[in-house]
Amino acid sequence: MIEVRPFGSEKAKQYCLVNEAGMQLTLTNFGARIVEILVPVEENGGLRNLTMSASSDEEYQAKDAYPGATIVPVAGRISGAQAEIKGQTYRFTENEPGRTLHGGVNTANEQYWDVELDEATNSLTFSIQLADGFNGFPGNVRVTARYRLTPDNAVEITYTAQSDKDTIFNPTNHVYFNLTGDVTQDVADHRVRIAAQTYVPLGEDNLPLGILEAVDGTPFDFRTGATFAQGFSLEHPQNALVKGYDHPWILDQVAEPVEVISPDQKVRLTVATNQPAVVIYTYNFPSEEMATYHGAFSLECQGLPNACNVPDFGSILLEKGQIFEHKTRYQFAW
Ligand code: GAL
Repeated sequence: MIEVRPFGSEKAKQYCLVNEAGMQLTLTNFGARIVEILVPVEENGGLRNLTMSASSDEEYQAKDAYPGATIVPVAGRISGAQAEIKGQTYRFTENEPGRTLHGGVNTANEQYWDVELDEATNSLTFSIQLADGFNGFPGNVRVTARYRLTPDNAVEITYTAQSDKDTIFNPTNHVYFNLTGDVTQDVADHRVRIAAQTYVPLGEDNLPLGILEAVDGTPFDFRTGATFAQGFSLEHPQNALVKGYDHPWILDQVAEPVEVISPDQKVRLTVATNQPAVVIYTYNFPSEEMATYHGAFSLECQGLPNACNVPDFGSILLEKGQIFEHKTRYQFAW
């Protein structure tokens, strides 16, 4: 049974998926968003919420509309708020000075998506149509975001898209985790392993510099496991620049390139994806209100940010009629 509950305004609903292990995944149509991931890890089977969550669409709207949401059409920052697609230059809405962040303003993370429940597979598919020219992006793009809670405690996300014009497309999910279940505690002591030899340094404007840098000898080296604390001291200029982590890593082609373990070692999260990179943002500006400074971290699996303007960053072109597919799996163990 997928339980449907109210979630704030009249248009907002919350959907609760449960599996036999007692894990719960709650989602909302507002932004095709993950609200909570609950695991029965506390004493006597008590639930721990592993995500940074709000309790209604209005609360997300008032505080921060990114947590848990589906970000389309293009995650991350686009330099100059423009790109050339098949020889034609398109200008996008600037929602930061001279840049477009996470697809521009009022985009699908703030829209109410259509919903189809599939109880047989314990999954739910959200869908939306992005209008041609919305925020400057070409093409009517039909997007689906499917979430499945598996019997073996994974949250599987699949995005598909198809456009009627050549366009660019690079979606992600912007869920934030704190595996202690308490976003008033910072995530410094989470143990992190990232199978990545290189990361992408940023410039003053938070845009990728357009080069890859080896992680060797830097606080970006998580190859054998380390805590976020190694970057939170802000000694490295790249950590100082953004007050923590807000960077992409280029993932090795291995089954589960990212692993995070809670400080009490009760919860383990591993990530599998068909995407080339993970962007980790450690909630570096508490003005965002939903957690303390460094109180949560995102694991945004995606193509590289600003790939549309950096030739070496891989293509995010979605050709007319082509079917796009992105798969990411967050596996939990406790
Ligand atoms: C991240 C981005 C951060 C910040 C955040 C939204 O993906 O890299 O710089 O903008 O989204 O609050």
